[in-house]
Amino acid sequence: MINLKPEDQKWVDGIWEKLDAKLSNTAKAVVEFVPYTTVNNRYAPMPITWWTNGFYGGMMWLMYKMTGKEEYKNCACVQELLMDRALRKYDGLHHDVGFQWNLLSKPHYELEGNKESRVRTLYAANMLAARVNIRGNFIRAWNKKSYSIIDCMMNIPLLYWASRELEDDRFRFIAEMHADMSARDHVREDGSVVHIVVHDEQEDKVIETLAGQGMAVGSAWTRGQAWAVYGFILSYIHTGKKEYLDTAIKVSDYFLEHTAEFDFRTPTDFQQPKDIGYIDSSAGVCAACGLIELYKATKEEKYLDGAIKILKAHEQDCIFDDSDQSILQNGMESYGRGRELHLIYADFFLVEAIAKLKGMDYLIW
Ligand code: GLY
Repeated sequence: MINLKPEDQKWVDGIWEKLDAKLSNTAKAVVEFVPYTTVNNRYAPMPITWWTNGFYGGMMWLMYKMTGKEEYKNCACVQELLMDRALRKYDGLHHDVGFQWNLLSKPHYELEGNKESRVRTLYAANMLAARVNIRGNFIRAWNKKSYSIIDCMMNIPLLYWASRELEDDRFRFIAEMHADMSARDHVREDGSVVHIVVHDEQEDKVIETLAGQGMAVGSAWTRGQAWAVYGFILSYIHTGKKEYLDTAIKVSDYFLEHTAEFDFRTPTDFQQPKDIGYIDSSAGVCAACGLIELYKATKEEKYLDGAIKILKAHEQDCIFDDSDQSILQNGMESYGRGRELHLIYADFFLVEAIAKLKGMDYLIW
């Protein structure tokens, strides 16, 4: 349980009311596709295997868990069924099956005991586990080249779940192998994070690091940093291994220290020129979720305080009325795109963070 200051509690309750009012309308107007962003203020999809295609359904499961409203469950179930086309397609899927079915079908199994959802989730976990390179000690991100990306720290919780579900440690061994590699090869000495590591395919050797979606080699892409903030504390929660907690503290301290330089309204890259003004709200709200979990693990007030400051700073990026179907604006896909837009996962992490502050104990990851 989190004890908030009365003024913060009032703020959290107010935001929650607005989220529920808007999202229950969206849920009732069930869409027959998977939303990614909005175009002309209406949801718009990406191809069915797109990496973000679990977030809308996952957000609906969170809302259902918090409110018990049937419209949220119905909407989540439609999303889960739509994604069967992706599961059957196979081509086009990669390590982000973690993001997808961890949020879409696992909650359906956990919250409602749905057996078909269990099977979907196990298929996804097997697909993710099979991506391991046992000589290089990493999970291969995409379907070409031997890359690992920091984002995968958010995919591996699916493997921890599969180990528990099947009483089969192989899944956990792969997840830990990957987390250990990420702590070593993706986290720099100062706590900033490398987006892409290029590995040798035949042995445990780093060939080079790439800027990926960040500004430049050696810079600090904020969403990558956020994946590490939330990803390492999740690995700690699932394994109890202190080294993951230590790494979560290191990357979170970097995030907090640098986001403070931007008044807690998260930029796209912590090293970006101050006058460029790029914002990535998705990085802020994802990091806030991780910081809240880090607060629960350490009882260090600075993490809760930082999470609340970040969430409050991004309130100005929210649309709570019906002028647009989405809520949190000003996310950025990558520094190179240089254009802010709504990203469905920004809404997901906003809902998750506020639900955590409202006392939700269900960890969807
Ligand atoms: N996982 C891809 C991204 O963060 O944009």
